[in-house]
Amino acid sequence: MALWAALLCALVASLLSGLYLLGVFRSQRPNEPPLDKGIIPWLGYVLDFRKNSSEFLKKMQRKHGDIFTVLIGGYYFTFVMDPFCFGAIMKESRSKLDFRSFASKLVLQVFGYKPIKASQSTMHALSMKHLTGDGLNLLTKATMGNLQKLMFSKPSSREEERPWQEDSLFHYCYNIVFRAGYLALYGTESHRGVDNEEEANERDLIHSNQLFNEFRKYDRLFPCLAYSMLPPKDKLEAERLKRFFWSTLSVRRSCQKDNVSGWISDQDQFLAENGVPEYMRDRFRFMLLWASQGNTGPTAFWLLLYLMKHPDAMRAVKEEVEKVLRENGHEVKAGSPPTDITRDMLNQTPLLDSALEETLRLVAAPLLVRAVLQDMSLEMSNGTEYVLCKGDRVALFPHLSVQMDPEIHPEPHRFKYDRFVNPDGTKKDFYKDGKRLKYFNMPWGAGISICPGRFFATTEIKLFVFLMLAHYDLELVNGEEEIPAIDISRWGFGTMQPVRDVHFRYRRRF
Ligand code: HEM
Repeated sequence: MALWAALLCALVASLLSGLYLLGVFRSQRPNEPPLDKGIIPWLGYVLDFRKNSSEFLKKMQRKHGDIFTVLIGGYYFTFVMDPFCFGAIMKESRSKLDFRSFASKLVLQVFGYKPIKASQSTMHALSMKHLTGDGLNLLTKATMGNLQKLMFSKPSSREEERPWQEDSLFHYCYNIVFRAGYLALYGTESHRGVDNEEEANERDLIHSNQLFNEFRKYDRLFPCLAYSMLPPKDKLEAERLKRFFWSTLSVRRSCQKDNVSGWISDQDQFLAENGVPEYMRDRFRFMLLWASQGNTGPTAFWLLLYLMKHPDAMRAVKEEVEKVLRENGHEVKAGSPPTDITRDMLNQTPLLDSALEETLRLVAAPLLVRAVLQDMSLEMSNGTEYVLCKGDRVALFPHLSVQMDPEIHPEPHRFKYDRFVNPDGTKKDFYKDGKRLKYFNMPWGAGISICPGRFFATTEIKLFVFLMLAHYDLELVNGEEEIPAIDISRWGFGTMQPVRDVHFRYRRRF
């Protein structure tokens, strides 16, 4: 009898602890944000969130206000929608709000890379060294050269020989920007061992195209992979692709390349010096490929598409491009070779800058997450103070809470190319509730995890669009075509992608 009673007690205890772990007993305590666990234990709202994160958060905001805690796949996420609190969250010390613990799990799952502790400040310093200042000058030159090779492989021809070429705009932009950036960062075919420079260039073009095609396959699987929701067949394909990238980008193969950027080689050297084995460094390179190439091409696509759909914007940006070319002695004439655009020239384009920022406002939608390491309080702009609980996660989704807020950006769904610039070329300020906002557009994230490649990304996109507008006439095959909807399965992963491609045509202007 006593044995049965003991067994029963053990069963009840394990049941209760199971239910506890599933979050069944958690309720909102005083000063905590509204808590909404959904109806499915442990999973909570994971299905609604996965289906359409933005719609789900909109619904929750309507129900609970500007701060709420929801259960998603076993984790409690406190979403903060009040942009005046963003500074406090982004600047909070790492002993209270930590970016790494969340990012490390994701990075291991999707790239097979296990980050080492205490590497972050050095990695950050290396990114600053190679992705800004003189390092950025070098990368800009390399990218410029690659874009010229990729976009102007055929020489400029006579008027009657300037046929229109048709292509799919998303594929065209993503392909060229990916390959130009990849070759600038990961290096080019060594001239040693091939007959001449042309052959080495040709090999680069072929290899980078193959790499792009495989990257797109991985890109399509990425959202389901990150949510661990891949069906078995796709899981196998994701594994194959991972191995392909680990091997293609490997340290061993990289040794045979020329012009590998300092951003790649110095970070690798640092990892090697800190005892990271070679196979793990291969995986690190794959992660960097994803971070550096997954968003720039799609952003370039949206920018060109918005310009083509808004003739006033296209006219204004094109005039600006031509003015910069003229004033810098680079006027494009019949037979002129592709222009060498410098960083200095890229600094003279306030309208293009604004059009790019407007594009990012519309299509960049990262989810910014921090783990709460100790209980802490957060004051909202209305003065209410909330307790954030140790063990939970704090999340921002600025696309909804600032980028699409009609009070901050009137007519938020419209593309207004000059939204971010004053008539005198200076940058505009933005307000909410009559107060000036610091965080009014957050495509790059903020704080400790802000994108270290943002200046290089901007440079790449501007170089590409600058060259397209300077050297090509371009138009949509169907001028009436609607801008495609965005693929809502990708909310939270950076720049959104369209649900379908759009046909366009282009031809050399001279
Ligand atoms: C339009 C293009 C790009 C967009 C919209 C973008 C956006 C972002 C965002 C939002 C994050 C922060 C994620 C977070 O806080 O969780 C991030 C991180 C990162 N980005 Fe970018 N990025 C772009 C291009 C680039 C480029 C060109 C590079 C490198 C050359 C790069 C390198 C990185 C790296 C290494 C991180 C991780 C930083 C860390 O873990 O601390 N990105 N990016």
